[in-house]
Amino acid sequence: MADFRAIVVGAGGISGWWFPTLLAEQVEIPAVVDLNLSAAQARIDEFSLSAEASADLGAMLKKHQPDFVVDLTVPEAHCAVTCQALKAGCHVIGEKPMAASMAEARRMVRTAEETGKLYMVSQSRRWDPKTELVSRIVTAGKLGTLGLFNCDFYIGAHFTGFRNEMPSVLLLDMAIHHLDLARYMSGTDPVAVYAQEFNPPGSWTKGDAAASCIFEMTNGVIFTYRGSWVAEGCQTSWNGDWHFVGDRGSLVYEHDQTPQGELATGAVNFVRRLKPLPIPAERLKHLGPHGALSELFKYLRGGKVPQTEGHDNIKSLAMVFAAIQSSKQKKRVPVRAL
Ligand SMILES: NC(=O)c1ccc[n+]([C@@H]2O[C@H](COP(=O)([O-])OP(=O)(O)OC[C@H]3O[C@@H](n4cnc5c(N)ncnc54)[C@H](O)[C@@H]3O)[C@@H](O)[C@H]2O)c1
Repeated sequence: MADFRAIVVGAGGISGWWFPTLLAEQVEIPAVVDLNLSAAQARIDEFSLSAEASADLGAMLKKHQPDFVVDLTVPEAHCAVTCQALKAGCHVIGEKPMAASMAEARRMVRTAEETGKLYMVSQSRRWDPKTELVSRIVTAGKLGTLGLFNCDFYIGAHFTGFRNEMPSVLLLDMAIHHLDLARYMSGTDPVAVYAQEFNPPGSWTKGDAAASCIFEMTNGVIFTYRGSWVAEGCQTSWNGDWHFVGDRGSLVYEHDQTPQGELATGAVNFVRRLKPLPIPAERLKHLGPHGALSELFKYLRGGKVPQTEGHDNIKSLAMVFAAIQSSKQKKRVPVRAL
């Protein structure tokens, strides 16, 4: 028998990644909710679910009283769907980005507090063996004291659907992954940002598809982010290409390859001699949404708070909105989460 029952809301593209994961964990799915009923029914048929398709979340929550809701809707719907589920007494695991505004994200975190239910975000790129490895190396101080790190992201993604109409499409829909990884892999939190968003020549998106941002992080660490989602050719990884510099050595993580590092050794002779940084073994068992789901189960079974619980994850979203504000105001702005 399944340990947990969940209603899935949003049966679009990303749900094709979630249903196999939920089924692998034997989660019972009594209903799939989508404003587009035929999308919900199509997923039920595809995965042979004994679930009902519905466009009425309220009715499904009342009827099935699930342990948790999986919110896979578009960002503009996350706040309404998540708050409705929390108020109905369910925990919620939702897709990134938390919300389409900071006001909505704060409302979601407050509603989780008021209802005593968990709200967590599936920030899928944290559950990647190599980003976990980088995080483990850097946060353990293997490079010495971190001074700066950079991320470059260049992909030409010809989407159809909501992204082509979305304002700040790079920062809000994609860079949220990299800005969250920046916190995760460096062990620092944002303090302030100076950023410029723009739409490069040839862009096929309505909103700005490129940005350059300089973040001040805690401990005085500087994080520089450069990205374009309309870059044709010479692409980086979807995780971005990363370079970390500490006072003992450096680490690069590029093209999804095993990270490589060098440590300074011996006396200074203009430049110091270098030795390779030992790279430990990868160790993640569950990847992407499966990793997020495992953390939800640990919470449901033993109360261990997931790393992307709302109070923490809102700091990553705050980086996005501070960058957007900085670009509009053409000045450095503080990053404020709650
Ligand atoms: N983690 C990742 O790597 C990753 C990848 C892709 C998408 N995502 C995120 O997943 C979310 C969904 O993206 P997608 O690509 O599946 O979008 P999509 O447009 O393919 O699907 C969204 C679905 O939600 C439904 N929907 C919208 N509002 C709703 C509401 N109020 N109630 C019920 N259903 C509603 C739509 O009808 C649609 O079927 C977004 O937040 C996106 O950023 C994450």
